Amino acid sequence: MAGGASPVHEGSVDATRVEAPVTIKTYLMCAFAAFGGIFFGYDSGYISGVLNMNYFISTFEHLDQATTPAADFVIPSSKMSLIVSILSAGTFFGALLAGDLADWFGRRTTVIAGCVVFIIGVALQTASSSLGLLVAGRLIAGFGVGFVSSVIILYMSEIAPRKVRGAIVSGYQFCITIGMMLASCVDYATENRNDSGSYRIPIGLQMLWALILAVGLWVLPESPRYFIRKGQMDQARSALARIRDQPEDSHYIEAELQEIDANFQYEQALIPHSGYFESWFNCFRGSIFHPNSNLRRTVLGTSLQMMQQWTGVNFVFYFGTPFFKQLGTIQNPFLITMITTIVNVCSTPISFYMIEKVGRRPLLLWGALGMVICQYIVAILHVTDGDNPQAVSAMIAFICIYIFFFASTWGPGAWVVIGEIFPLPIRSRGVALSTASNWLWNCIIAVITPYLVQTDEANLGAKVFFLWGSLCACAFVYTYFLIPETKGLTLEQVDKMMEETTPRTSAKWVPHSTFAGELGLTEKAAIGPSVTHAEV
Ligand code: BGC
Repeated sequence: MAGGASPVHEGSVDATRVEAPVTIKTYLMCAFAAFGGIFFGYDSGYISGVLNMNYFISTFEHLDQATTPAADFVIPSSKMSLIVSILSAGTFFGALLAGDLADWFGRRTTVIAGCVVFIIGVALQTASSSLGLLVAGRLIAGFGVGFVSSVIILYMSEIAPRKVRGAIVSGYQFCITIGMMLASCVDYATENRNDSGSYRIPIGLQMLWALILAVGLWVLPESPRYFIRKGQMDQARSALARIRDQPEDSHYIEAELQEIDANFQYEQALIPHSGYFESWFNCFRGSIFHPNSNLRRTVLGTSLQMMQQWTGVNFVFYFGTPFFKQLGTIQNPFLITMITTIVNVCSTPISFYMIEKVGRRPLLLWGALGMVICQYIVAILHVTDGDNPQAVSAMIAFICIYIFFFASTWGPGAWVVIGEIFPLPIRSRGVALSTASNWLWNCIIAVITPYLVQTDEANLGAKVFFLWGSLCACAFVYTYFLIPETKGLTLEQVDKMMEETTPRTSAKWVPHSTFAGELGLTEKAAIGPSVTHAEV
């Protein structure tokens, strides 16, 4: 199927662009699902503050606040890394399992199940006053977050209209950042309490987010692409009609449905689908050197999420408070952590516009470059003038600018792209594997960074920014060679674009035919005006 774009036929109906207008109702429906980001963000965010709360340390470490010297009044690195990373471990397995569940029981049902599992995990954490129960609760809650984080991306990418898909999925990242900010505000509000409410309030509050998401999704329609996979055309039609806010017999609905179905049939014909393991194996089929093979897409999705974690952003969010404390001259490290989370929230909406305007590739390229520069400046300032309070203030300013670059580019960009690059037969598993990769690397980084930076271990301190800066340089090169431009295309057009281009030529690709046309389901196969999708 590979080859250049077919010639454009002038004066014909543009079937590549037949689509329903985007109504407010459609927007709101798609945007609600982004709420899933709140508890992803909150759950990863609250722990940094809790680990530094006096009451928490004295309860979990059995230390007396009055008699223990300040230097010993900390959670040791090994326990800290276990408490932080166990959530990502649970999430890794949750995300992997969720891919199957989303295909068997539906996207919506899996997210609702994730909320229930999450609530159980949070209840255990809230009740805990010792390490064992806290860790078990975080592991179980992690499972729930895994379900939600991988399936919400799938669901949103599948229901959003192509023109606003990037912005809508960026909304999910926005909610992650709001969740993180809420967590640090709540931590900030309770940190000085000298009772178990100091940590129980921030932990217990999360149940509310899960409840809102579960109830909201109960009301929203299932993804029509799930019904098409199941061969349930009527349900697919009525779900799509609800999502697009159109009558079921509208020609928009008919055309979109036909195209999704034709693409599914086409992709199914290319891959064998017998047993359970065989269908997993399909994600790894083909040659890594072929831009369109399933293996290439799976490696792309998983490595993109790995790269997102390699930017080092969670170093700031997970270990920000102890790190800022370690810099010495900072009076209130909690406050600085809160500022970084506020920068994170305020910068993310820039991506809503930019991801559709300039596209995914340029956004990721510029973001990586910006982060490299900031991180090297932080590391160099530390090495050359680390004891000077003004240099420390400048370091904090550059850490904030680095967060700005992350939040407006790689934060949303990585989620948007993994929702777009997989064809329907392997999409749920591809997104699940990619999300699992995010959590795997999230976990690895959460485990190793306390050892890298803390004074009782490798004591790298702010020099660790040399490492993050170098990894962001890798992210730049990686994007340049491997990330295709998916802006403005339907998921089915992305599939075709990836067949016919390489990442570096992808932005020039023009939608020129439909799967429905090629399979003879509509009158015309090759149609469309001569614009690149980058101009759409
Ligand atoms: C990342 C998280 C990170 C968050 C920060 C997300 O996209 O996957 O690991 O904590 O962004 O905003």
